[in-house]
Amino acid sequence: MKISSSPISLTKASTELIAVNASEESYSKFLKGKASTSSPLQQINSITKGAFLAISSKKMEKPKKGSSFTVEFPTEKKFKGVLVYVGTPEDESVRKFAASIVQASKSLKLYSCVAISEDINLVHYSDSLLEGLELSSYKFNKWKSAPDKSPQLKEVTIASQDKLSAKTISKIRTIIDGVTLARDLGNLPANECFPTTIAETAREIGREHGLEVTTWNKKQLQKLGANAILAVAKGSSEEAYLIRLKYTPANSSSKRNIAIIGKGVTYDTGGYSLKPAGSMDGMKFDMCGAAAVLGAMKVIAQLKPSVEITAYIPTCENMINGEATRVGDIITTLNGKTVEILNTDAEGRLILADAFAQAVKDNATEIIDLATLTGGVIVALGTYCAGLFSNNDALAQKLLETSNEAGEKLWRLPLIEEHRDDIKSSIADLKNIASHRWSQAIIGALFLEEFAGNLPWAHLDIAGVADSDKAIGYTPKGATGFGVRTLVKYLLSIGSN
Ligand code: BES
Ligand code: ZN
Ligand code: ZN
Repeated sequence: MKISSSPISLTKASTELIAVNASEESYSKFLKGKASTSSPLQQINSITKGAFLAISSKKMEKPKKGSSFTVEFPTEKKFKGVLVYVGTPEDESVRKFAASIVQASKSLKLYSCVAISEDINLVHYSDSLLEGLELSSYKFNKWKSAPDKSPQLKEVTIASQDKLSAKTISKIRTIIDGVTLARDLGNLPANECFPTTIAETAREIGREHGLEVTTWNKKQLQKLGANAILAVAKGSSEEAYLIRLKYTPANSSSKRNIAIIGKGVTYDTGGYSLKPAGSMDGMKFDMCGAAAVLGAMKVIAQLKPSVEITAYIPTCENMINGEATRVGDIITTLNGKTVEILNTDAEGRLILADAFAQAVKDNATEIIDLATLTGGVIVALGTYCAGLFSNNDALAQKLLETSNEAGEKLWRLPLIEEHRDDIKSSIADLKNIASHRWSQAIIGALFLEEFAGNLPWAHLDIAGVADSDKAIGYTPKGATGFGVRTLVKYLLSIGSN
């Protein structure tokens, strides 16, 4: 897709689709016939000799934020269709406007577009529009014997005074590439995405973009004492790995070394605490934390913030065979803490425990993890919002702000101290589940905290948002790539150069 911005005026523009992002107020004025002659809506109306107002007042009688409609003008010379989106001056609204452009282009079969904003002024307007257009254009075609070759939106001109610089375009495209990588990896079926696939992808990113990559295989994990990862992987014939990707800036402006950690269970059957059939569907997405971390590292390696960042990915399959972990087995994790495994389906916290311990050993100064950890977080927050847990208010606040800018919804949940006793085992240091069914997202988070070594730590439980069962706005059906943009924005804001 060719995207440019120029101070083009509607009366001069010649394109297939005109997309207008109008505020509630300006749409309302237009309906009442009170819009000024310079208003794009009014200009379209003059060109169409009043037909546009007549149709608009039928299609959307009152302005409704976030709603849109399209009108076709097959015999018009200057354009063949118009999209009206009622937006607000927020980046997220502009991204949704972009998504409605992509949808309108598809349904009206119009492939060049001029996007105009009426009364909506934003510093990063063009950036957000570009971001939304690119995010909305994602397709996962790999397993279709007849891939979707239908034409796609080819060209968008953003009518704007400030020019989109080549540097900005390239930066945004680099970020979207990271999201695409995370979506692609997430969408791979589990018979095409093994722990080895995750390790190979990490090595490839490292090779291509100059990151230092370490992978610990089974033997090396044994030596390291990463027995939690090994315990989860025991029932699978696929080898498990702990992967580390290290980004070292040329000039570091701080002494911080930020660890980002992603859960990489390429398939979660539950193990001997077997999931019911209906709950197993979708468990190929149990590596979406890992995918987001890999996507973010690919971006970081190219945008080069001036702060040290190390990614850790524990990856394995949670399967069953004669050697698989039994319910009641006790293991010694990488940092020496012992865990009684009372539910083999609470495996994410186990593999993350070893990854956390390695990050602490490597002198991380803070930890952020992303994990499809609990069904409980979906019960609490649903499928559009991830749960945030943190032992550090400043870190939590910053992540909430960044995720809000990125349009990735996060809601902070509490680490209720009273529940800490629930994960104390009578015969080991910890047990991996509580003996009640309540507050599972909190229990999972409290378990992770035991391995964070008192560092500032934030945990994003992305079980509800990592994949979507339908396309909505700029989010596709399947893997969403949730977390990549929040991580990247957060890390760039710390080491901005
Ligand atoms: N991978 C699941 C969590 C999950 C559930 C992700 C639904 C996406 C959708 C995790 O490993 C798990 O099974 N958690 C258990 C924990 C329980 C046994 C304490 C759960 O949430 O049921
Ligand atoms: Zn599980
Ligand atoms: Zn899992």
